[in-house]
Amino acid sequence: MNKITTTLLKQMKRDGEKFTCLTAYDASFAIAQEKAGIEVILIGDSLGMVIKGQSSTLSVSMDEMVYHTANVSRVCNKSLIMADLPFASDVTKEQTFVNAARLIGEGGAQMVKIEGGATMLETIEFLSQRGVAVCSHLGLLPQSVYKLGGYRVQGKNSEQAEQILADAIALEQAGTDILLLECVPAELAARITKHVSVPVIGIGAGPDCDAQVLVCYDMLGLTQGTPASFVKNFLAETDSIQAAFEAYVEQVKNGQFPLAEHSFN
Ligand code: KIV
Repeated sequence: MNKITTTLLKQMKRDGEKFTCLTAYDASFAIAQEKAGIEVILIGDSLGMVIKGQSSTLSVSMDEMVYHTANVSRVCNKSLIMADLPFASDVTKEQTFVNAARLIGEGGAQMVKIEGGATMLETIEFLSQRGVAVCSHLGLLPQSVYKLGGYRVQGKNSEQAEQILADAIALEQAGTDILLLECVPAELAARITKHVSVPVIGIGAGPDCDAQVLVCYDMLGLTQGTPASFVKNFLAETDSIQAAFEAYVEQVKNGQFPLAEHSFN
């Protein structure tokens, strides 16, 4: 695998070549994922749940994000390292820039991920103009779980769907480099993926996105409680964690994952 850059990911989209993303929070998982050919490693604020044992991502601090990002970036040479800006770290555009600079400078991230659509446009433009690579997270926004009333599929009615599409287009114009769609109907994700020229990573967003992401503990069968319907346990059909990561890469690239059963209508 060549060193993964935003330019390369955009070229892969143009070539119709799917790419892969998984979350990692430590060096050992990051080494195994890079070895398996995972193009983008996400240090997600899902660490609030899978590392800290909380019921949401909301307690994750900037210090925790920087710590886990550094543990991953230290051992990766090829995968692109993307780190989440946690809850309330992106209230103003200036604060967001300072916190993004921490994830990049102290953590070694190459891209930051920010939840939100129209409300974040000014911030995305501010960061982009200052040379920060950004992934914009749309659809189900886990940091808004209390406002949304739960982890629910978004964009099911046409008004919501049109808003998400409009947000995606506006975010691309504002300078976002990648979009991530979480838990939206497969048809909406396919429309957005076709409409924008930046790569679209999906989770619970159907098979037509340019790339897929899963929380690594989920795809290894370590979900606490019942896994979401879009999750597949890749360890169940392999004999090691390394082989599970490799099976995920293969199945995303050849269109075997996600299937209709992992998608929403
Ligand atoms: O924090 C995270 O792991 C994420 C993924 C669910 C996409 O944002």
